[in-house]
Amino acid sequence: MNERPLILICDDDPHILKSLQISLKSRFEIHISSTVSEAKIKIKNHEYDAAIVDLNFEGQELDGVHLLDFFGKSSPGTYLIVLSGDQSVKRVVEATRRKLFQFIHKEGDYFADLYSTLTRATELKKANEVQAIQKYLTNSPAVKSVLKMAEKIIQKDQDAPILILGETGTGKEFLVRHIAENMKRKLVSANMATIAKETAESNLFGHERGAFTGAVQNKIGLIESANNGLFFLDEIGDCSLDIQAKLLRVLQEKEVMPLGSSRARGINVNFIAATHKNLNEMALDGDFREDLLQRLNTFVLRIPPLRERPEDINFYANFYLEECGDEGVRYTISNDGIEVLLSYNWPGNIRELKSVIQRFVVLSNRTILNADAARSAIGIGELSPRSSSTSIIEVKENQIKKDELLKAILAFDGDKQKAAKLLGVNVRTIQRWVTKFDLTRSLSDLNLGKGVSCD
Ligand SMILES: Nc1ncnc2c1ncn2[C@@H]1O[C@H](COP(=O)(O)OP(=O)(O)OP(=O)(O)O)[C@@H](O)[C@H]1O
Ligand SMILES: [Mg+2]
Repeated sequence: MNERPLILICDDDPHILKSLQISLKSRFEIHISSTVSEAKIKIKNHEYDAAIVDLNFEGQELDGVHLLDFFGKSSPGTYLIVLSGDQSVKRVVEATRRKLFQFIHKEGDYFADLYSTLTRATELKKANEVQAIQKYLTNSPAVKSVLKMAEKIIQKDQDAPILILGETGTGKEFLVRHIAENMKRKLVSANMATIAKETAESNLFGHERGAFTGAVQNKIGLIESANNGLFFLDEIGDCSLDIQAKLLRVLQEKEVMPLGSSRARGINVNFIAATHKNLNEMALDGDFREDLLQRLNTFVLRIPPLRERPEDINFYANFYLEECGDEGVRYTISNDGIEVLLSYNWPGNIRELKSVIQRFVVLSNRTILNADAARSAIGIGELSPRSSSTSIIEVKENQIKKDELLKAILAFDGDKQKAAKLLGVNVRTIQRWVTKFDLTRSLSDLNLGKGVSCD
């Protein structure tokens, strides 16, 4: 987003075109057009962030109002500013009806006004774009069809829940939030991995006054509070067997039974569950209820891992690089850099890719993510100073450990539990390694320091 905004100026007066072009070019990329027909060709070929449009085009068949209409149809995202000396009320009204950002009267010293209007319009456009893009990014047909399918199921108000499967960091939660936002549905979530065991039941299903010591008044549970909306059971694979049994009833009967109550209450809720775990295997091991799995298995949506959607690797990398740029610096990626990203297998998926780009931008002095920079951002820091007594084998082992550790921590945005789980060690070991490999500083530069502390 660090490119200069692209502006089209359409005016039949060549002096105005020239002087505006000169005065605005330090901040904006300017295209000019002295005829309406030429402007239309340009609009077809470029996506303008904003346009400055005159209304009268002397001796031409088409005028500025026509151009505004053309923008409306062909490039509705362009912010339109009319710059005109024509104040005849009819024209002004006609023009303002057409989604104008601002009308500026071409009289006296209008430049300051025009400049600030243009700045405002382009900043607003950028902010809106970022917001819109952050809503959901993908270039992958497979992911798009997952999205469509989920919305279709919810739209039809199916009773059966949706189960979203995907490796860690593929965007399961992100997808659910996006669906809820897009469908304007209320969303209530509970994370089965982090919900406190002692209060899980009362939080999920609610309780009646006196149900247990401390239950001084009735409480509506999270599930019931999602009435007429969506309830998201995140990390369903981490759900205790007790809660699984109760959830099954809720899913089957579409009613909740608050703790201490003898009466079930009907609910109208669409359930979405997600996990990165293999529920079939868990069921075989007796860790997941077979009947609940059957219930969840009706609509299964799989978000493919990043390594299976090269189009997204490219897309996200470019997007996040662009996002990191500012006025002075523009980050880009070279072809061999892309090759490296494409050949990596991304165990932490989008979350990891985001961290890798962040790591490159913060720790590297380059602005082009080439193959070397990509390799080192993916996982390799410098060797810690080697003590003379350290053997080569030990150094190698340490390097591998350090690489793995960094990768795991980056993949999970600094989440010590998840990194530990991935590496099959406990959290204290992670902390010891961070200290041993002198990574505290690098991680806190990336704002990941807190996540690896054991406190
Ligand atoms: N489609 C997307 N567009 C933009 N960013 C995304 C998208 N999907 C995921 N992300 C980013 O990736 C990060 C990980 O996504 P999310 O937390 O939804 O993954 P997850 O599949 O729920 O992971 P986990 O299994 O570890 O809980 C998010 O912070 C989000 O910024
Ligand atoms: Mg998640």
